[in-house]
Amino acid sequence: MAEKIIIGKDWKDLKKFGEIGTAFIGKHVVGKGEDSHLTNPILMDLTRPHILLVCGKRGSGKSYSAGLVSEEIYNLPDEIRKNISVLMIDTMGIYWSMKLPNEKDAEILKKWGIKPQGLPNAKIFIPEGHVADYTKSGIKVDNPFTLAVSELTAEDWAVTFGFSMIDDHGIVIERVVDAIRESRTEYSIDDIITAVQNDKDAEKRVKLAVINRMQAAKGWGVFAQKGTKVEELLQPGVVSILDVSHFMRVSSGSWSVRAMLVALLARKIFDQRLKARKAEEYSQVTGQTAKTMPMVWLMIDEAHQFVPSEGSTAATGPLLTLIKEGREPGISLLMITQRPNKLHADALSQSDMIISHRLTSKSDIDALRSIMQTYMLEDIQDYLNDLPRTKGAAIILDDNSERIYQAQMRPRFSWHAGGSPIIIKEKSLIGGGYEKPKKPGELTKEKL
Ligand SMILES: Nc1ncnc2c1ncn2[C@@H]1O[C@H](COP(=O)(O)OP(=O)(O)O)[C@@H](O)[C@H]1O
Ligand SMILES: [Mg+2]
Repeated sequence: MAEKIIIGKDWKDLKKFGEIGTAFIGKHVVGKGEDSHLTNPILMDLTRPHILLVCGKRGSGKSYSAGLVSEEIYNLPDEIRKNISVLMIDTMGIYWSMKLPNEKDAEILKKWGIKPQGLPNAKIFIPEGHVADYTKSGIKVDNPFTLAVSELTAEDWAVTFGFSMIDDHGIVIERVVDAIRESRTEYSIDDIITAVQNDKDAEKRVKLAVINRMQAAKGWGVFAQKGTKVEELLQPGVVSILDVSHFMRVSSGSWSVRAMLVALLARKIFDQRLKARKAEEYSQVTGQTAKTMPMVWLMIDEAHQFVPSEGSTAATGPLLTLIKEGREPGISLLMITQRPNKLHADALSQSDMIISHRLTSKSDIDALRSIMQTYMLEDIQDYLNDLPRTKGAAIILDDNSERIYQAQMRPRFSWHAGGSPIIIKEKSLIGGGYEKPKKPGELTKEKL
């Protein structure tokens, strides 16, 4: 067996634990382009908090790689797995298929010695108002997801609607929502609407604009008086997939709705994990066992939409808190982006592991270069250029060992629904039968 490459572990942990608690993510690629071949397995630490950045251009394998990291949680030994939970913010609505075995790649999987398998520990959460769409398409939903209206501050509403706290709209929202929050612990959007209607100081025009937005928010299908508890999303050993793709259709400002949702979740995860950490430390000292919450891997696709390099969203502050202070309470982040250059500088610089699939834009390569320049001898561009042209080829940067590897990410054992859609449905491939030409121009059409 070839020697294994372990990333994200320091020497102390390596000495003590070896490869226990690692994820098998791919194999080292040796040689250039066509002559390249796969050698040592690459294992990634899952026992300590990390910030993992996954980047690459469209279709290069980013979402696939994030999915395979979640698969690896399932492969951990029980006593480690029960201390980890995954929350995947699924912006594209593609991860539901992880419950199914990856039969379509059975051939490739065989070469890697892996069997197709659906993830038994995946749970799908859908905003309550969209569950019917799912069940209509024959997909089983584990849990409807709701946000408690009472969780949102005046500022959350204002930012989500694109108002400033100092314009007329922001001012009404602040007055009304603050008053309601003070007097009640549970309320609905309709209660807010009534309060806006009854507000004596605001102009009619302003009130109508705010009510309009509140009405629209009802249509997002996610608000309720009682919300889903964050503990339900963060269960030991479970990969929770929160599908937020539907907001694309229901709202033109769909990113702001998602950002609000991520903001609320990030804040809650941080608070809960801080509490849990205290309880864990207390029990270590006293020897008593305390009921705690597992460590968290929060995975976010299109991360630059939430923590952008310029400007900010409702989620920017809460995510930056996780990025800068999440280590102590045991929170890991996996951020996926096509555009590392468009990601907030702190999110980039705090990443201790990077999986970069093919990237072509100079500004994006420069962004990666800026993080790694201290220990890179060769240029990152050369590493990227020399990658084989296969899907899932990537360079892996490990801040811990200050090393860079060319790698082929392993094929997934659960189904990945994220490939480019094709207009032709498979069953209607009548008239196909072209083989890949042996020489350019030499098309061979077999009998239909
Ligand atoms: N490691 C891999 N092994 C095999 N196929 C892969 C791998 N990574 C990606 N692919 C293929 O490439 C397609 C696109 O990958 P995806 O992760 O959806 O791209 P994106 O970078 O746009 O998120 C997948 O549907 C899959 O077929
Ligand atoms: Mg993707």
